Amino acid sequence: MAFPARFLDELVARSDIVDVISDYVQLKKKGGTLFGLCPFHSEKTGSFSVSPEKQAYYCFGCGKGGGVINFIMDEENLSFPDAVRFLAKRANLEVPEETGGSREAGRLRQRVLALNKDAARFYYQTLQSPDGQAVQAYLDRRRITPRTAARFGMGASVDRWDALIAAMTEKGYTKAELIAAGLAVQGKGGRLYDKFRNRLMLPVIDVRGDVIGFGSRVLDGSEPKYMNTSETIAYSKRRALYAINLVRKSKRPNIILCEGNLDVVTLHQAGFDNAVASMGTALTVEQTRLLSRYTKEIVLCYDNDNAGKLATERALELLNHSEFTVRVLQLPNRMEDGKPMKQDADDFIKNHGAAAFEHLLSGSENGVAYRMAEIAGQYDLSADDQRVAYSRAVSALIATLESSAEREVYAARAAEACGISKDAILSEARRAFSARQKEERKQQARRDLNPAMELQPKERGSRYENLRSALAEEGIIRLLMLDSALFTGAPPIAPERFSSPLLAKVYQTLLSALQEGRQPHLSLLAEELTGEEMNHITAVLQRPESRTERDKALRDYITTVNIEADRRCQSSAADLLAAAIEKNKEKKQYGGKLNG
Ligand code: UTP
Ligand code: MN
Repeated sequence: MAFPARFLDELVARSDIVDVISDYVQLKKKGGTLFGLCPFHSEKTGSFSVSPEKQAYYCFGCGKGGGVINFIMDEENLSFPDAVRFLAKRANLEVPEETGGSREAGRLRQRVLALNKDAARFYYQTLQSPDGQAVQAYLDRRRITPRTAARFGMGASVDRWDALIAAMTEKGYTKAELIAAGLAVQGKGGRLYDKFRNRLMLPVIDVRGDVIGFGSRVLDGSEPKYMNTSETIAYSKRRALYAINLVRKSKRPNIILCEGNLDVVTLHQAGFDNAVASMGTALTVEQTRLLSRYTKEIVLCYDNDNAGKLATERALELLNHSEFTVRVLQLPNRMEDGKPMKQDADDFIKNHGAAAFEHLLSGSENGVAYRMAEIAGQYDLSADDQRVAYSRAVSALIATLESSAEREVYAARAAEACGISKDAILSEARRAFSARQKEERKQQARRDLNPAMELQPKERGSRYENLRSALAEEGIIRLLMLDSALFTGAPPIAPERFSSPLLAKVYQTLLSALQEGRQPHLSLLAEELTGEEMNHITAVLQRPESRTERDKALRDYITTVNIEADRRCQSSAADLLAAAIEKNKEKKQYGGKLNG
């Protein structure tokens, strides 16, 4: 382990999980546990639990869980060593000199961030120089003012193979760092070349002000039009939001989500300093988590073509049942003479101006109204059979609404649209609702019939081979964490006897901590386990454990694990024996032939 054990113990002891998580989630006490809205998935009712006793969090909705270090790793998107440093700063603890790989990883990320910042400066200076003329002309063509360009830190990459590499090498960055940052690419012959050439450069800056990566656009019609940093130690496209650094300071009550980086630029220039772009990915949960820190209302403003509609549908689905209020800003898709027209926010502002956009923004409808209009568009409401089909489709949508007031309002609206009574639509919605409930119950029953599936780790690689033994092993781990006094002295069972390699590893780690006189807590595992594995172990901790007679419970678990381990030994011994006999037979036959 790279950090000294004593230091980590002190850090965890001084970073009370309830304290730390309260900085991010509003928690309410229910018995010995605290509950709140899960920061890792969208929800309206709190299934996110924090246990002061176990110093663990666990979400009953999405299954995420862990100790205080994991929480910071997930919430702040940090590696283990960076999460440790983050918590140390918070607890006013000095981080001792580290050794080994984690310091390297932490340092590499810092180097990549420094390199990105220097690269952004270099591109920016290039744009101001004669070398930047082509990009400058492009910006002029798109009516992006120098002031806006500076506000976004825009730059220019030139049409050469190693302009950035040369400049950054001179500043002391290594080849490996250039590759790690995704700024240089290695060719077939091993030679390095600049990834971004002859492009408008758009630095992507996170809420802390770090340049985590770049977006970029070609100046002509060639492909690919946009090229972004690929996944690096600093850049994850699931978390990136273009212009979030500016939006966090906006005074507007909502955040506008666009498809394109340049839509965002144009919007900011027109006074909408609350626009961000998801940079070519469908909206992700990670992005919504980030947005939830700054707003409670999201306005979707995707292109008005089919791709944009699809993206809107998917985003609405993701945001359904979230704590956000969601609205959809629809850009007109017909010209004044009725001809269809593709348009994005950038086009719209250029064609109609900021006031017209403000008008669209204030008139934008909520997600339900938007979907109802979309459904209505699919039917010819003057034909009887189509009106019936429409009422069925719209009832299915109404059936997903949680509040009865909402159902009333939209049923009335649908009734008006198709001339079928509101009550008929509401009763159709009730039918759709119970049909869905029935289906859900059926699925639950299927799961109840096969409880083993529920207990298995989600990650394929850690699937239990021997469920009976694994459940007993889980029990041993649970007792070790809840009542470590049972484990002082000689270990009651050796990790080698476990059937699950994952559980053996966890047991081993906790046991050796205990033997060194430390508290066995979840955070000890943060470095060694993957996120999925951690979730699973936290779920294991949630399962009920006897409160009394724990020593007897432990003995029972150990007996089970031993019986199963012996059985495995026997069967593998039997296998070996069988294999030996088989081999012997072959030998004889072979020998016989030779002799014959
Ligand atoms: P669009 O193709 O809709 O372009 O891509 P746009 O924003 O209207 O671009 P302009 O106006 O022609 O400059 C929308 C967004 O999808 C991502 C980019 O983030 C872009 O802003 N994208 C698009 C890519 O990542 N790669 C691509 O090849 C294209
Ligand atoms: Mn565009």
